[in-house]
Amino acid sequence: MKLNPLVTELSLFDIVHTPGVAADLSHIDTKSTTNGFKGSEELDSALKGADVVVIPAGVPRKPGMTRDDLFNVNAGIIKDISTSIARQCPKAMVAIITNPVNTCVPIAAEILKKAGVYDPNRLFGVSTLDVVRARAFIGHALNVDPQKVEIPVIGGHSGVTILPILSQCKPKYTGSDADIQALTVRIQEAGTEVVKAKAGAGSATLSMAYAGARFAGSLLRGLNGEKNVIECSYVQSNVTEATFFSTPLVLGKNGIQENLGLPKLNDFEKKLLEAAIPELKNNIKKGVDFAKN
Ligand code: LMR
Repeated sequence: MKLNPLVTELSLFDIVHTPGVAADLSHIDTKSTTNGFKGSEELDSALKGADVVVIPAGVPRKPGMTRDDLFNVNAGIIKDISTSIARQCPKAMVAIITNPVNTCVPIAAEILKKAGVYDPNRLFGVSTLDVVRARAFIGHALNVDPQKVEIPVIGGHSGVTILPILSQCKPKYTGSDADIQALTVRIQEAGTEVVKAKAGAGSATLSMAYAGARFAGSLLRGLNGEKNVIECSYVQSNVTEATFFSTPLVLGKNGIQENLGLPKLNDFEKKLLEAAIPELKNNIKKGVDFAKN
């Protein structure tokens, strides 16, 4: 975000280390100013007047854990940050990276609703890394520049809820049915691939930072009046039976300008969607129940 020319003021918040990280970042010769805020008593000051809030807070997975296993710790963190957002920057675009994303976004929605400031067009779950991974894997498989690959990845951000729509890939994905099956599972399990490789030292941070910065950059481009800014993101939705669902969105000055809905699905992808919906519904209900109680 420090490299993004659309950023004017960069505020960092964490329970430790932010003054040092902020001092370090502030020496990068881009025009934004950088401030570090540390400890819960400084959360309100970090958020005051923000236009965009990106939340990667919380604990990461260790091998053998699912994203849902992080719920007990991370749900409370999302609740506290959302409560502070409602007080300090109720009009901000909020992008949640914290896992389980499928549950944390509904929690934030409920907390913002309780505070009377919820705008479904301004609350996003970041699923950009699923798109980034799909582009990387497909680009290398087809021997084309991953940056030239376009593919919608819809649904949610965990396991079977991640739905790469390979039939709509540009350039056309030319693998066999077995390749399509294997690539779909690889994209769905790509986070776990990193968790295993890091062997207890956490989950994806570098590729996630890249993906989060791309998504936040797209929010800023939309805010700045740029046209045709399109990203897939997990948002409140009536496209399927799941009340939160990721589809391609047009981003504008007020957040979601248009939800482009489901891409065309083939029979294999329709089956994937069927498998995802019950899981998503459970994930969403867990978040809503937590916030209500
Ligand atoms: C990812 O997709 O890499 C992140 O959601 C982190 C994780 O736990 O997999």
